[in-house]
Amino acid sequence: MTEKRENWGSKLGLILAMAGNAVGLGNFWRYPYQAAKNGGGAFMIPYFAALILLGIPLMLVEWNQGRYGGKYGHGTLGPMVYLQAREGASPKVARILGGLAGALALGVTVLLNSYYNHIIGWTLGYAFETATGGYMDKAINTGEYFVKYIQSPGKVMVFWLIALAVLGFAVMRGIQKGIEAWAKFMMPTIYVFGIILIIRTLTLGAPVKPEWTPIAGLNYIWSPRWQDLNWTAALAAAGQIFFTLSLGMGIIQNYASYLKPEDDIVLSGLATVSLNELAEVILGGTIAIPIAYTFLGPEGLGAGVGLSFIALPNIFRQMAGGQIFGTFWFLLLFFAGFTSAIAMYNYLVALLEEEAGVPRRVGSVLVFIIYIIFGLPVGLEPILTKTAELAYLTELDNWVGSYLLVILGLLEVIVTGWLLGLKGLDEMNKGSFWKVSKTFYNVFIQFLTPVAIIILLIFSTRDYFKAGYFKWIPSFVEKTPQLVPWVLSARFVMFAVLIVGFIQAYRNIGKKYGQEIIEGKVLVRRD
Ligand code: PHE
Repeated sequence: MTEKRENWGSKLGLILAMAGNAVGLGNFWRYPYQAAKNGGGAFMIPYFAALILLGIPLMLVEWNQGRYGGKYGHGTLGPMVYLQAREGASPKVARILGGLAGALALGVTVLLNSYYNHIIGWTLGYAFETATGGYMDKAINTGEYFVKYIQSPGKVMVFWLIALAVLGFAVMRGIQKGIEAWAKFMMPTIYVFGIILIIRTLTLGAPVKPEWTPIAGLNYIWSPRWQDLNWTAALAAAGQIFFTLSLGMGIIQNYASYLKPEDDIVLSGLATVSLNELAEVILGGTIAIPIAYTFLGPEGLGAGVGLSFIALPNIFRQMAGGQIFGTFWFLLLFFAGFTSAIAMYNYLVALLEEEAGVPRRVGSVLVFIIYIIFGLPVGLEPILTKTAELAYLTELDNWVGSYLLVILGLLEVIVTGWLLGLKGLDEMNKGSFWKVSKTFYNVFIQFLTPVAIIILLIFSTRDYFKAGYFKWIPSFVEKTPQLVPWVLSARFVMFAVLIVGFIQAYRNIGKKYGQEIIEGKVLVRRD
């Protein structure tokens, strides 16, 4: 257990890797349509409230848990949560909490990434299609083109496998030579491409209608439509904060586990949040929506997949230099997705390495195979059913990509804030340049953040009931019986992974800390 773990090579590398973890498709793809759909500028109010109430405190908690676990040689959530929980609960109870955390983190890293990898594959495929002019002919309907794309086995599978293989290759090389090196190249590129795209966006003029301008598009996201400010918007904002900052997934902790015990976590955690928000609110907010608005007006701002893969391609071929800017756009998406997916990939490799003794090289290949198996249904559904509903993906996303994050976030903040308690504050401030104050810890981490997450959970559950997600046959597939088996299999897979995750984490904690669980007191300590 004490074999030497790798560390980050440099501060810059660490920050870029962490920012890479957080900056993902969530920023460029999910954020713009969430903001546009949920009240424009009015969305910003719950969004920034959630950033302060949930985002920043949880980010600090996760860095804390990760560095703490890393000290004991752990990069996965089960033992990390166990180690902190045992300070305030009996080792037996701590073991159960660790089991739950391990299960949820395995669920997220296996399943969320299984479909995220596909979307990354599409972005790579679309970068290629755009660069080679695949849909540049104006007679092509870009909606139909996209449907055809996801229904064509050749394209979907090839780009997905390329993306997965590169991910596997990068993870195989380890923390410094793999993850850090790729982040150092990809992250700055994202910001550069983002700025180029913003400049292009703001200079589009009004090619279609005089009132459709990029500035009017910016107004559309920034000016508050108060009538749209409601619970749904607040929930969407909080959910977006979780997703975009990679919270409740276990992957921030995994990266933080490669810190040295005295490495700063407060300033670095805040730097991660800032870089992510810059990429989200400024870059993410100033590209897709204003471009779409300029060409399509307020009615044209379709939802997630629609905006990036249908509306924008349609625009790229109308605008001067569109082919080049379109290629930049899809490469930007690819890099953003890649540097996030690599974190989930690494979580699983670390799990195999630390908990099953599988060397990193072999682990990287195994995880490649795992992602192929779990990602196959996502890719096959449109091909086999000849539909474009993506019901399997949607079902996974509804639960794993939104709901489970919040549950895991709650568990984490309770474990650090309440069970590790005030020791958590000292732990956070160890080696930190800026100190977290006791008041902040008491008020936020121990009180407001857990309460806000509980409220979020209650209202999300209510909304899920209303939307019919709890039904045996959820409402969104009621009218498409051929998709029902896809949804049911998604559920089966989710349960299976969660159960395996629980058993695995629970047993592993028992294996490593068995003695203290039997004796009921802490024996292994590393300060
Ligand atoms: N923060 C990431 C994003 O915005 C979330 C994520 C990480 C999703 C890793 C999938 C894999 O996209």
